[in-house]
Amino acid sequence: MVSPQLTETLNDAVVAAARSSFSARGRGERKWADQLAVSAMRKVLDASSFGFEVVVGEGEKDEAPMLYVGEILGNFDLSFDLAIDPLEGTNYVAKGQLGAVSVVACARRGGMRRLPGYYMNKCVVSQKAKGSITLFDAPDVMIAKLSETLAKDRNEITVAILDKPRHRELIEMVRATGARVAEVPDGDVVATFEVLAGAYDLLLGVGGAPEGVIMAAMANALGGEFQGRINPLSNREREIVLDLDPSCLEVTFTAADLCRTDVVVAMASVTGTSFLAPPRLTDGALVVESLIISDGEAKVRTNG
Ligand code: FBP
Repeated sequence: MVSPQLTETLNDAVVAAARSSFSARGRGERKWADQLAVSAMRKVLDASSFGFEVVVGEGEKDEAPMLYVGEILGNFDLSFDLAIDPLEGTNYVAKGQLGAVSVVACARRGGMRRLPGYYMNKCVVSQKAKGSITLFDAPDVMIAKLSETLAKDRNEITVAILDKPRHRELIEMVRATGARVAEVPDGDVVATFEVLAGAYDLLLGVGGAPEGVIMAAMANALGGEFQGRINPLSNREREIVLDLDPSCLEVTFTAADLCRTDVVVAMASVTGTSFLAPPRLTDGALVVESLIISDGEAKVRTNG
């Protein structure tokens, strides 16, 4: 059971980040939108009476002035690890489109795995399909197994895949099985929640490794399944990863490898998603919706 004060702090942090970066929507400035979210989130977490260490953050200290990996926030009695993504979907804010959120996952100290800030091959299924596939099944095998487990015709299975050039072949292969593909321009964290909530049957493909820890946290909190393997996209990336954390290249991570199960994830709407309304001005106040995911439940809150 997560303490209500901790949940409040995490909710306040993502709502503050969402309010701040919402002001940058449609201005074509993704870095500025991100900076607004980062500094608003940092202010709330650092003022809190809890002690946090950023385990998954904006990058290493020399490239990220705030919310960098290893940064200590709040009081110095360190009790919690954080995986933060103050603005997930920076392009959506810059372009004034739906899809951006602010998100933070929090577990007891020592409960999260730090990963190099590069790419990871990942898959996510909901509780109903847990244990039915492995990350390295061929797409036709995966879809056949899912179809059997979910008792669904192949052509009624929908797979969310980031719409990136590296996924063109994968998308064609999945469609060739008869399954549908939802091409998601950005945001595999939001798509993960949509899978766990049953809007899609599977998330597949290569995205950020730090986002993978947050996806694993959500899968743990909601009883779904996450698998991920570090997947450098170039020789240079492989060399850097080898230098930072050679062991991580050898492992296919489960959700439990990346994050404890008694985790809380807070997410706030920056520009709106399929499950959170966009912020709206009501009686002069900006009302922001957020989602608290923990103990097998996801509850929407309205923050006035
Ligand atoms: P940002 O908000 O940091 O731009 O991340 C969005 C995102 O789509 C993530 O959800 C995903 O894991 C990653 O970018 C994929 O990276 P890339 O855009 O380089 O393919």
